[in-house]
Amino acid sequence: MSGYPDVRLRRLRRTEAIRRLVAETALSPSDLVCPLFVTHGRGVKSEIESMPGVYQYSVDVLPREANEIAKLGIKAVILFGIPQEKDDVGSGAYDPDGVVQQAIRAIKESTPDLAVITDVCLCEYTDHGHCGVVADGEVENDRTLELLARTALSHAAAGADIVAPSAMMDGQVMAIRGALDGSSFAHIPILAYAAKYASAFYGPFRDAAGSAPQFGDRRSYQMDPANVVEALREVEQDIAEGADMVMVKPALAYLDVIRRVRDGFDRPLAAYNVSGEYSMVKAAAARGWIDERRSVMEILTAIKRAGADIIITYHAREAAAWLGGEGG
Ligand code: PBG
Repeated sequence: MSGYPDVRLRRLRRTEAIRRLVAETALSPSDLVCPLFVTHGRGVKSEIESMPGVYQYSVDVLPREANEIAKLGIKAVILFGIPQEKDDVGSGAYDPDGVVQQAIRAIKESTPDLAVITDVCLCEYTDHGHCGVVADGEVENDRTLELLARTALSHAAAGADIVAPSAMMDGQVMAIRGALDGSSFAHIPILAYAAKYASAFYGPFRDAAGSAPQFGDRRSYQMDPANVVEALREVEQDIAEGADMVMVKPALAYLDVIRRVRDGFDRPLAAYNVSGEYSMVKAAAARGWIDERRSVMEILTAIKRAGADIIITYHAREAAAWLGGEGG
């Protein structure tokens, strides 16, 4: 009984009911995190050209959006801010009344059960577009840490449930953990963008957030796509510094990295299905070249199969609706 004709693997693929019974990976709306871009103004819902179906919202319309998202069975959103003004030290990132801080308060007031995750970085807030402070054309690691800690603290003070540092500065998790613990926020978890690669797939996001670097690129702080052993070191460091959860980003070209992290570490693992990955699907689907629903489900299932517990994705709302909402 070790091979054909005794073994017939097709037996378990004969009907949809049997296929579902033996499925090894199941997606649920509660696996998904929905990114939201927040901008100034009132009554704003403006579509991002390179990301059809994704919008920048003003704070006043967020409660309605948050409500819809929660109704779909999604448990968390991650916020990105587009400030009115930028400067060389990213002041908008840690302004107690900045656009993200206002957004946190609005969502926690209207939809308290929805977890609010915040992206802790300076790139949307600096006029040069880099993730930290710049001196002599270099992004300065240690001076940036204090600003990231201030940013995380301001998010926690506004009511954020989870902070997610994404600047790829060494020591950022330790700096943020220390700041939170020193200010009565010891209960706030850190989701570390641990293995974040210098990726071309962030292109549409930089449109959406107006955060493209004005000179150079991010390769002196984000990881080289050629490396995976180094990703494990990043994860190890972030956990040692106090990360409660870790992330691999992007997702699709890095499924092997997700698998290696899953096998090597016992922390909840998130994967970020990034903007370029979303836009490629949307563009091909709009031309009728691929079936959008099947492609999205296949992609999200594959990310989960690779080992992710949590998937941050711009497809979150549509996917959750396809999965049947609450309890789906
Ligand atoms: C940095 C940040 C970026 C993304 C999430 N956080 C941009 C970057 O590093 O250039 C990219 C997300 C995406 O492409 O969907 N604040």
